[in-house]
Amino acid sequence: MNAVAATVEAVADAAGRHVRALMTSLEQRLAELAADHGEVLARHGGDTIAAGGKRLRPLVVFVAAGGIPGDGGRALVRAAAAVELVHSATLVHDDILDAADLRRGRPTVVASAGRAMATATGDLLFSRAFAELARNERRDEVRALSVASTALARGELLQRAEAFDVGVTLERYLRRCELKTAALFQAACELGALEGGADETRVGELAAFGRRIGLAFQLLDDVLDVSGPPGRTGKRRGADLLDGTVTLPLILARERSDDVAAFDLREIGGPAEAEALCDAIEATGAAEDARRLALEMVNEASATLPPLPTAQLHALHLIADGVVDRYA
Ligand code: IPE
Ligand code: IPE
Ligand code: MG
Ligand code: MG
Repeated sequence: MNAVAATVEAVADAAGRHVRALMTSLEQRLAELAADHGEVLARHGGDTIAAGGKRLRPLVVFVAAGGIPGDGGRALVRAAAAVELVHSATLVHDDILDAADLRRGRPTVVASAGRAMATATGDLLFSRAFAELARNERRDEVRALSVASTALARGELLQRAEAFDVGVTLERYLRRCELKTAALFQAACELGALEGGADETRVGELAAFGRRIGLAFQLLDDVLDVSGPPGRTGKRRGADLLDGTVTLPLILARERSDDVAAFDLREIGGPAEAEALCDAIEATGAAEDARRLALEMVNEASATLPPLPTAQLHALHLIADGVVDRYA
């Protein structure tokens, strides 16, 4: 079992068996949603969903809810499915923007079916997400997910605007990560908390937790882009460097090594050179320090959680640890 699957198991044990049942319902619902849309588009959208993924965000939704709501959890499962669909949609579009050819260990939609099909597939997944959430008939939930979707799009735009700019500051980098990744983790917590009947204060506290672990999640993802290995991440090593995305390991390594600082990302010729730059970054200790910063963030996220039922608190701590523990 890999580290993330182990986290899911451990969280399910800690939060109570109901989380396992909810995760099973989620998979059923996602499979239904993938199947019920015209053949061609549904094929790629369905493939993306069927390829798996860690399902971390739905897990966050379920644990933030703190139990099964009175309707047997149907609305909660819809909220979790909506979050996972937005996530999947962004991945399909992200791989177009990042020119990535490998995702979840398989060829990306853009690599296998082309740009037009990937654009349409992402759009379909987005629209399915909101259609699913709308069935809950809760304006606060739709608002939470739209705020996150807008942030995601802004984050991706910012990333393109800053591509190849090695002068990006730590602050700008963190802002981009907040937009493109932390916002959806925040929404996952909000949706779970809302479905679980939390009051406004509690929703806000859980939202802050989601935001912090989401930020740490992206920091670690950026470390994994440098350190891999692809066999475990399901993505290519050095993909960020190849498409000009300046991330924390590079920002730190540039301060420590003249050779790394002298590198012009536009001149990277291909994957082998990108991997060589990954090695050079790792040799400065920058990837390790970026990982440490992510760890500090999740520790802070856990430390600032409000008083919650013991089982829920334990499960949230495990999720926080799991965010930085993957592929360690
Ligand atoms: C990848 O997210 C995109 C980022 C925000 C870094 P995940 O690593 O959660 O992707 P899957 O769902 O497990 O494939
Ligand atoms: C996160 O950034 C992507 C989204 C939020 C959609 P990355 O570009 O680093 O994600 P991966 O590495 O492709 O999964
Ligand atoms: Mg990407
Ligand atoms: Mg990445």
